[in-house]
Amino acid sequence: MKLDKKIHKLINLEKRRQENTINLIASENYVSKNILKAQGSILTNKYAEGYYKKRYYGGCKYIDKIENIAIKRAKKLFKAKYVNVQPHSGSQANFAVYNAILKPGDTILAMKLSHGGHITHGSKINISGKIYNSIFYKLNKKENINYKEIKLLAIKYKPKLIIAGFSSFSKICNWKKFRKISNINNSYLLVDMSHIAGLVAANLYPNPIKYAHIVTSTTHKTLAGPRGGIILSSINNKSLYEKINKSIFPGTQGGPLMHIIASKAICFKEALNKNFIKYQKQILKNAKYMTKVFKKNNFKIVSGKTQTHLFLINLKNKNISGHTAEKILNKVNITVNKNYIPDDKKNSLETSGIRIGTAAITKRGIKEKTSSYIAKLICKTLKNIKNIKIIKKIKNKIINICKKFPIYKKII
Ligand SMILES: Cc1ncc(COP(=O)(O)O)c(C=O)c1O
Repeated sequence: MKLDKKIHKLINLEKRRQENTINLIASENYVSKNILKAQGSILTNKYAEGYYKKRYYGGCKYIDKIENIAIKRAKKLFKAKYVNVQPHSGSQANFAVYNAILKPGDTILAMKLSHGGHITHGSKINISGKIYNSIFYKLNKKENINYKEIKLLAIKYKPKLIIAGFSSFSKICNWKKFRKISNINNSYLLVDMSHIAGLVAANLYPNPIKYAHIVTSTTHKTLAGPRGGIILSSINNKSLYEKINKSIFPGTQGGPLMHIIASKAICFKEALNKNFIKYQKQILKNAKYMTKVFKKNNFKIVSGKTQTHLFLINLKNKNISGHTAEKILNKVNITVNKNYIPDDKKNSLETSGIRIGTAAITKRGIKEKTSSYIAKLICKTLKNIKNIKIIKKIKNKIINICKKFPIYKKII
C-alpha cells in the first residue's frame, strides 16, 4: 500500500508534537491503543441509519450487536435507563435534545459563556442562541454558582429548559438544587456533563442522572474515549426517549459513525475497570497540587480552588492577557487555552485568563510531584516572558519531562 506521503508526514509531525508537549488543555486526552485501533477499523465503511433491527440499510447484523454493547455498558457505567450513543459530538447531542423537547422561540436558561457555559447553551454566536430565546445566569462575586439568582430568573422567565454543566467551572455543582428550581415551572433540566463525565463514572463527582431529565456528554474529555457524544436519562418516560432517538435520526443526523460507537463501547469498558478510578483520583490530585503552586506564586485561581480536573487562572494582576500567556507557554512546549474569566473586559481572542486541565498529563503517568514542577515552570515562564535564555532552558526541561513520560508506552 502506498501511503499518502503529505498527510502521513503531517500525522507523524503531530504525533511528535504530542509526545514532546505537556498538554494542559482541559478538554483533551489520549485514547488507548484499543480505541485507536477500533477508530481506524473497517467499521468506517458501514452505513447503519436507524436503530437496532430497524435500520435503513442491509448488512447490519454485527453493527446491531456493537451498538447494543455500547448502550449496555454506558447504562451500567452511569446508572442510566436510557442511552443513545449515536451523537457525533457533544454539540450534536445538545442540539438533538433541544430539537426533541423545544420549539423555536422557547426560552432556555443557561450559564453565560464568559462565566463558564458552552457556546451550544444558547450563546448568540451559536445556532442555539438564534433559534431559542436564551437567558443567562452568572457566577456570583465569589465566583460560585448563584442558585438564588437562577431561581429568580426561572420564576421570572419560566424557561422550558434549564441547562447545568459547564466548560470551565471548577467546583462541585448541586444538581439537586438545580432540579428543585426546574420543578418550579416544570422546566426540563438538562445536565451537560461533558467535562466531568470521567469523574462521574468514577464516583468522584456527583452523578447528575438522578436529578436531570436528560444528561448529555462528550466521550473524549476526562472519560478518555473517542471524539463523540452520548445522551442519557433515568427518568421513566419512554415517549421522551423515543423523541430523543427520533431527534438524533432522522432529526439532526444521518448514519451513525460505527467505528466511533465501537470505540465508545471500549471506552465504557475501560471506565468500568477499577484502574479507571485510580486514574481519575490522580487527575484530581494533580489539579489540586498545581493550584497550590500557582497560589503560592500569587496567581489567582477563579472560584478560589478546584474540585475537578480543571481550573482557570485570572491573569489580571500579572498584566498579561490569556492570549500572550498561551503563546509564550507554547514556546516552552506547554499547551493551554486562553479563556474568559467571569466579567472579562477583554475579547474572546485576547481574554484575561487561561484554563488548565490535568486529564491528559495524568494519562501519560504524571503524578503530583511532576505536576507541581510543571506548575512552577509555568509560573517562571510567565514571569520571564521576555527572557529568551530562561525560556529556552524551560523548554528543555519540559522536553525532558515528556521523554520521561511517553504517551503511548504508558497507555495499553
Ligand atoms: C460543556 C460542553 N458541552 C459541549 C461541548 C461540545 O463538544 P464537541 O466539541 O464534541 O461538540 C463541549 C466542548 O468543549 C463542552 O465543554
